[in-house]
Amino acid sequence: MPKIVIAIDGYSSCGKSTTAKEVAARMGYGYIDTGAMYRAVSLFFIREHVSLSNTREVMAALDKIHITFNHNNRTGKNETCLNGLNVEEEIRKMYISNIVSEVSAIPEVRWAMVAQQQKMGRRRGVVMDGRDIGTKVFPDAEVKVFMTADTHTRAKRRQQELLAKGELVNLEDIIKNLEKRDLIDTTRSESPLVQAPDAELLDTSHMTIEEQVDWVIERADRRL
Ligand code: C5P
Repeated sequence: MPKIVIAIDGYSSCGKSTTAKEVAARMGYGYIDTGAMYRAVSLFFIREHVSLSNTREVMAALDKIHITFNHNNRTGKNETCLNGLNVEEEIRKMYISNIVSEVSAIPEVRWAMVAQQQKMGRRRGVVMDGRDIGTKVFPDAEVKVFMTADTHTRAKRRQQELLAKGELVNLEDIIKNLEKRDLIDTTRSESPLVQAPDAELLDTSHMTIEEQVDWVIERADRRL
């Protein structure tokens, strides 16, 4: 059976990655979390004190970054690895969320990540979630979904996720972070977050993960 690309874009904390992961598992496809890649770059930049406004420093740092995804058979979870080391837990923390949109707005960072993402999906058979998958990374994706949800629902979900990892953050701070990231993501010059003309809108405010997964699978089935 031919394999397709499923692009899931949208705002932060709409349930993109949970849905994408489950869709990939049900279809026997690979899952690529492109947000994790920008988060790993942000972590490297912080650790190496890279000045975001210095293009030369940014480019030199990008040359030293190697991002891979590893499936841990013991925990059953996907791990993001930065230069071979598991950084999955670290990149989800709030201090990374606070700078990741500024890092991912740097054109050189985007060019490097988009090239890697295109390489990762070149054989198709992938579910990729992010902000520019259907517009930039795979404009020829067979299924394109653009996810949204109301801000309060998104913030509550994010708060629960952080709490489950032991980080207690108040709702106001999360809302501020989501709104700031949305603003930077939608207004940056290089591949801003925008619904592709051929993407279908999915508002997840009142949907369960199961319903979201079924909705995407139904679209995928029509293309197979
Ligand atoms: O998906 P997640 O919320 O983890 O992504 C973190 C940040 O990475 C987003 O807020 C956005 O600034 C950036 N991002 C991006 N392009 C992508 C994926 C994520 O700019 N394809």
